[in-house]
Amino acid sequence: MHIRSAEFIQSATRPGNYPPEQGPEIAFAGRSNVGKSSLINNLVGRRKLVRTSRTPGRTQLLNFFRINDQFCMVDLPGYGFAKVPPEVKKAWGPMVHTYLAQRASLRGVVWLLDCRRVPNDEDLQLLDWLEELQIPTIPVITKIDKVKRSQRLKQLKPILATTGLPADAFSSFSALSGEGREDVWERIVEALGL
Ligand code: GTP
Ligand code: MG
Repeated sequence: MHIRSAEFIQSATRPGNYPPEQGPEIAFAGRSNVGKSSLINNLVGRRKLVRTSRTPGRTQLLNFFRINDQFCMVDLPGYGFAKVPPEVKKAWGPMVHTYLAQRASLRGVVWLLDCRRVPNDEDLQLLDWLEELQIPTIPVITKIDKVKRSQRLKQLKPILATTGLPADAFSSFSALSGEGREDVWERIVEALGL
């Protein structure tokens, strides 16, 4: 994918504030700190398009980006961040579920899991929603640079067991080395119908 332009459009919490639907959209979901923003930056080749530090004001929102004037990427707020206040935690579910259920231009969700963590209830809740709403899902195992190649299969086992997904459903990715970038792009392009 050749990136000619990538720009932040706006943040939103509810449908009234989403930008108008212009072309297909792909969203990125996963727990806080899993690497959603880093993946987006790596894919579009802009190191600072999306802030990767945890600035709560910004990461609790849906952030819309327009790429090549052709499609959108949406950085969804992360879940499971221990330090957020309870009212923010409560808002996450309806905010994300409403987006997933109502955004007609949404063509797929890149669902990120940390290679070193067993998926928890919040991860599985999100997977349930995606299945229920029949949204094409691109599962990506991130921070793969943290695991030696020889350990990868073993590391993957608890993730396969808890999600019930086959090994070939997952792409592996590292924002450090760029490993997996082309694979993830290919699946995104297919989901977007480009
Ligand atoms: P929230 O916005 O809080 O939901 O987090 P996020 O999912 O957007 O994570 P972010 O991209 O901000 O990354 C969190 C931290 O993990 C940062 O310190 C990144 O540098 C680091 N990180 C992200 N991806 C990778 C990766 O592939 N490998 C390694 N080693 N570190 C990564
Ligand atoms: Mg982020």
